Amino acid sequence: MKGIILAGGYGTRLMPMTRVTNKHLLPVYDKPMIYYPIQCLVNAGIKDIMIVTGGNNAGDFLELLGDGREFGLKELHYTYQQGAGGIAAALKLTEDFVDGDKIVVILGDNIIENNICGAVNDFTAQKAGAKIMLKKVPDPERFGVAEVDAKGKVLNIVEKPVSPKSDLAVIGIYMFDEQVFEIISTLKPSGRGELEITDVNNAYLKLGTLTSQVLDGWWTDAGTIESLHRASNMIAETGANKK
Ligand code: DAU
Repeated sequence: MKGIILAGGYGTRLMPMTRVTNKHLLPVYDKPMIYYPIQCLVNAGIKDIMIVTGGNNAGDFLELLGDGREFGLKELHYTYQQGAGGIAAALKLTEDFVDGDKIVVILGDNIIENNICGAVNDFTAQKAGAKIMLKKVPDPERFGVAEVDAKGKVLNIVEKPVSPKSDLAVIGIYMFDEQVFEIISTLKPSGRGELEITDVNNAYLKLGTLTSQVLDGWWTDAGTIESLHRASNMIAETGANKK
């Protein structure tokens, strides 16, 4: 299993802070934001990690993280996304690195209280397909939202719905088999001009190979002023990435 951290994009919702640095280098409580997704993957036993970044400050990731030894890694892999064509476009850049393995993808601005060890173990045992993780939120319209049946089976995912069918957000931690790159090749840009990860997940849903799991402990993104502030407070109160 390899790990991918997506840390590209322009972070426009955090302007003016992101005018002179990358969103994922901003502090969240006592660490740069990018530390949290790296630690999340490392805690799940994933040691072969590629970071996708972009923009004008990509070199700062190398300066900050180097070969990843602070996390107990032997090396860290980096690639560069030109522009901000979406989460799925950023993921496509990792195809050669992934080289047919299964992957865990985490968005660089997603932070969790606990760990994903159970889900990663389940996905290792899953023959093929994808796994998404869900979390109840008070503001589902900000996220990809899963409609589920009475047994909790995902029926459909809608990106930032105006009238959400549930309060279950699809969090930014995804597990895919090698088919993901073929699926991304078939995608068309959405209304916001991006290749959407929600379209990837819906493609797996259609194939009947998407599984899902509700995350325990808190989850937050940190990509808006409010969520960045909230993330810092939650980490101060409880800590993050608990084993
Ligand atoms: O946080 C979870 C949500 O993340 C999901 O519920 C949504 O389904 C998913 O689309 C995404 O929504 P956002 O609109 O919040 O994503 P955002 O544009 O903020 O991008 C999240 C991360 O993805 C960002 O921190 C870096 C990475 N990214 C994003 C873009 C647009 C890239 O690496 N390259 C990109 O071009």
